[in-house]
Amino acid sequence: MKATYVPVSHEPRRFWSALSSRGFKMRKPRVNRMVLAMCLGSFVMVIFYFQINLKPAAAQGSDQTRTLAKSGRSPLQTLYDTDPMELSPLQVMHQGRRELLEEACRSYTRKRRVLIPEDLKHVMVDDQHGLLYCYVPKVACTNWKRVLMVLTGGAGPERERRQPLQIPAHEAHVPGNLRTLSEYSTAEINQRLRGYLKFLFVREPFERLVSAYRNKFTRSYNTAFHKRYGTKIVRRQRPDARPEALERGDDVSFGEFVRYLVDPATQREEPFNEHWERVHSLCHPCLIHYDVVGKYETLEEDAAYVLKLAGADGEVRFPASGKSTRTTGELAASYFKDISPVYQRKLYNLYRMDFLLFNYTMPGYLKVR
Ligand SMILES: *[C@@H]1O[C@H](CO)[C@@H](O)[C@H](O)[C@H]1NC(C)=O
Repeated sequence: MKATYVPVSHEPRRFWSALSSRGFKMRKPRVNRMVLAMCLGSFVMVIFYFQINLKPAAAQGSDQTRTLAKSGRSPLQTLYDTDPMELSPLQVMHQGRRELLEEACRSYTRKRRVLIPEDLKHVMVDDQHGLLYCYVPKVACTNWKRVLMVLTGGAGPERERRQPLQIPAHEAHVPGNLRTLSEYSTAEINQRLRGYLKFLFVREPFERLVSAYRNKFTRSYNTAFHKRYGTKIVRRQRPDARPEALERGDDVSFGEFVRYLVDPATQREEPFNEHWERVHSLCHPCLIHYDVVGKYETLEEDAAYVLKLAGADGEVRFPASGKSTRTTGELAASYFKDISPVYQRKLYNLYRMDFLLFNYTMPGYLKVR
């Protein structure tokens, strides 16, 4: 799959949507000339990055020598330079996920557009190992940021290498501790998109959503979320709200949260908060070709797989979560019990792409059929 990156300009998006990721592909010659004129006028500078047959440029001798693992190969070479006949069951499984994602993108997304820096704000960079990680809140992203901080050596003032869990959670989320891909120049972005191992971790969408709700609206310490979102939700979704509920916003019910999410006015006003924004919108998996799709449901194995590809399995271990993910399905079911079928359907439609792209089936507890 190919992707293209175009830097920010003041040009309206509708021109960009006319650009296919394989280059310029215009519906009308008139538009073609317009875009050409824009290019010549240096309004738009387009830089292409190609991944030929999933054998990226890294295999053709890129200058990213710093990213080579001890084996002398980049993570991408380690991933793709295996004889198809010799793939392990684990490699076959990951290949299956990649192909399913690609196929779902082909089937369910109509318009292809090019990437803009705004799209890359969630993609964290490890230049030492050649990794790009798109973080998704509520899918072990704190631990991944900790691991990347250890790997990039930016784990604090101490020179001594720390263990991931020695890094406080709040420190892992301080902007600037890790670089995001959006901070780089166009050429640097393309080079990294082409030569680095790109990965993300996903989770069953409704389990992730229930996790976000519980964490942000049922914990008394999350006053920032109560003030910022809770008060708004109470005001909009609770006709007979008491003054102190309007003031504090700390007792939002799951039903009110769901109605807030499916209310078209919500997204018209501002983008969803990243904790409940869809992976599709956070990480653009149909525009960025991810090499590894990790899942929360198989977090430890998938994390170990990524670290092994990166040649970093000797440097750091992904922290064990301790929590069993087996119970989170039942937990989600209990929250959906009181949601009416109409709202269950609306919510499913809202998160539909995340279900389809990452091979999650509609949960059995929904009453939408
Ligand atoms: C998709 O999910 C189904 C059911 O859980 C599973 O059997 C199948 O192997 C998955 N496919 C891929 C490509 O991961």
